Amino acid sequence: DFDAFDISEELGFILEEPLTSLPDYYRVWLDLANNLTHLIESRKLRDLVHKMPVLSPKLLSSHRELRLAHLALGFVSMGYVWQEGQHAPAQILPKALAWPYWQISHRLGLPPILTYADSVLANWKLKDPTRDMEIGNMELIFSFPGGESCRGFFMVSLLVEMAASSGLRGALEVMHAMKISDLIGIQKGLIKVTQSLKKMKETFQLMHNHVEPTAFHGTLRIFVSGWRDNPMLPRGLLYEGVSNEPISLSGGSAAQSSAIQCFDALLCIHHEDETGAFLTRMRDYMPPAHRQLIETLSVCPSLRDFIITCSSSDLCQAYNSCVSALVDLRNYHLNTVTKYVIVPGNHARGSMGCPLRGVGTALNCTGTGGSNLMVFLKSVRNTTKKALILER
Ligand code: HEM
Ligand code: ALA
Repeated sequence: DFDAFDISEELGFILEEPLTSLPDYYRVWLDLANNLTHLIESRKLRDLVHKMPVLSPKLLSSHRELRLAHLALGFVSMGYVWQEGQHAPAQILPKALAWPYWQISHRLGLPPILTYADSVLANWKLKDPTRDMEIGNMELIFSFPGGESCRGFFMVSLLVEMAASSGLRGALEVMHAMKISDLIGIQKGLIKVTQSLKKMKETFQLMHNHVEPTAFHGTLRIFVSGWRDNPMLPRGLLYEGVSNEPISLSGGSAAQSSAIQCFDALLCIHHEDETGAFLTRMRDYMPPAHRQLIETLSVCPSLRDFIITCSSSDLCQAYNSCVSALVDLRNYHLNTVTKYVIVPGNHARGSMGCPLRGVGTALNCTGTGGSNLMVFLKSVRNTTKKALILER
């Protein structure tokens, strides 16, 4: 089961032991990506990209090589586009970036933009490889400006994703138990999912120790922004040497995490209308094997209907605890978004003396993924709540 969906028993959707180096031929890509923060801050990145040769991606072969190349080109592209701030984005991605990035993306089944699967799932290494995977022993491979807040944001997201891995094992157990109508198996699997969701929420709280709202909002956030549903690049980005028309792609967002969408699918929580369409579209930004697990869970016979029909109060309770834990996680997430996006956004507005449409506020009501943020997140939370089974 795990292999078919390219997931790790221990780490879930996280890429195990990501590579940190590529064949020497690609040195210029890694040199830029490794020095990105400095090159952006000194505004040298664009000039260096203009001097870059167009390299062929042909020497890349393994999945992990391709993932590292996609990650590196993603960081460099975001830096290139946003180097001069959100009001002067580049409109054209030069061929030396665009062309190999396009080819590599095609081979991976990912879009040519920095995704959650890059910046979180494939962007980590151990400081001391003989020690455990815990925040003190982990480092990002590539960073954006924003210092410890950048590191903290991606790292805590990674730890939350790690906490989801036992829930994925639980979800697969439930799916299997459903097939053989094993009520105890279903219940046990659901309990695992609930425990995992609680662990995810607990881990999420680390955000507050590691990420500062002003650094997140004022510095880091722009670099994960994309070129779709973004007023700063309304027409998209032209990928030179790839297409004659600009291409629109959403920025990075944990909405691209497959874990939560798997839990929704397992629990038969269906998001509708615009909200559902956005979440479904985010699957295009996931590695195909991960997307496949969501889709496999979605087409299973309905767990919720099964539980309603078999009217076992133990099962019903196990299901409801699971849904409640997901509601709690989503409420916690909503509060975090208020702290890191809404409040700093209001301050930026105030200090500009422009109450409605001041500079520095382009993304205040829009997530980096392009959703209409609070409306979207509340709709997701409310739909989750409605899945609770009311016992008679
Ligand atoms: C969606 C912000 C951390 C999971 C979103 C959205 C925003 C947002 C604005 C709306 C989609 C969009 O990008 O347009 C934040 C902020 C965070 C944070 C400011 C921390 C400072 C996390 C973490 C997780 C997460 C650590 C891991 C569980 C999700 C999910 C969605 C989402 C699953 C899709 C909506 C849902 O299914 O509930 N986030 N996020 N976020 N985020 Fe976060
Ligand atoms: N998706 C997060 C945001 O909109 C990163 O700020």
